[in-house]
Amino acid sequence: MRVVKTIEGIREALSSAQRPVGFIPTMGSLHAGHISLIERARRECATVVVSVFVNPLQFGPTEDFDHYPRDLDTDARKSEEAGTDFLFAPATKELYPAPPRTRVTVSGLTDRLCGASRPGHFDGVATVVNKLLHIVSPDRVYFGLKDAQQLAVIQRMTEDLNLPVRVVPCPTLRESDGLAMSSRNVYLSPEEREQATVLNRALSLATEQVKTGRISRADEAAQLIRETIRTAPQAEIDYVEVLSYPDLERVHEIRDQQVIAATAVRFGNTRLIDNVIWPGK
Ligand code: PAJ
Repeated sequence: MRVVKTIEGIREALSSAQRPVGFIPTMGSLHAGHISLIERARRECATVVVSVFVNPLQFGPTEDFDHYPRDLDTDARKSEEAGTDFLFAPATKELYPAPPRTRVTVSGLTDRLCGASRPGHFDGVATVVNKLLHIVSPDRVYFGLKDAQQLAVIQRMTEDLNLPVRVVPCPTLRESDGLAMSSRNVYLSPEEREQATVLNRALSLATEQVKTGRISRADEAAQLIRETIRTAPQAEIDYVEVLSYPDLERVHEIRDQQVIAATAVRFGNTRLIDNVIWPGK
């Protein structure tokens, strides 16, 4: 595996790479969730590129950009073990030599769920992913369903702008107690970590009720999820919503289309997200 830090360097390295090229954009602090995306790309592509870049554009002024966990040596070791050919790890100045005046905005999809409590976040994500796609020019780009709204935004951006890349959705990897893997889980105190399992329990309970037909309406499902999450005393709900997926529109009856049950919950200073898509993906 080669670690490349410049745009010129990665373009040069990939100019003669075997296709298809598979690409996994990350912010580092790699865990088994990221690794599952890399392994999938390894199975499907001749060349695998991973980027590690903590993108300042997608963090709000009060968010954890300065404290976001960074450890490039460990990330390099893990990516190499998972079969990465090139690790692109640019410095902030390399991608943003000056504050960008151009942003990519995917309207509609980005003003709800996480977009409502994190204004500008998805513009930051869409802008950096657009830049990375232009730099790496992959044939396939891999995204986790853990961040299902992000996946919907990127999918729509690539369609709207005719980007010549296939977006590949990948399932959410979980700890053995069901907590979705996330780089932010390390912030949780032992007590918060234990209570955080309520997210998956709430979503699984609702899934069960929907599958057996005991619940058929979106508002009932959201209510059950909310009530279950409230049984964890330290959980502070940011949102629980059941919307169509990937368009993220209001729905009444769950069975009419594919829907997402999505939630964001704070435990202390840590905000966790999780979701499930019905019918199952
Ligand atoms: P990051 O949070 O590092 O996630 C990188 C990729 O890993 C995303 O596609 C995310 O959905 C996926 N991922 C995270 N946890 C996962 C899990 N438990 N199971 C499966 N996949 C998981 O998402 C970002 O970085 C950034 O916003 C980025 C797209 C890199 C733009 O800066």
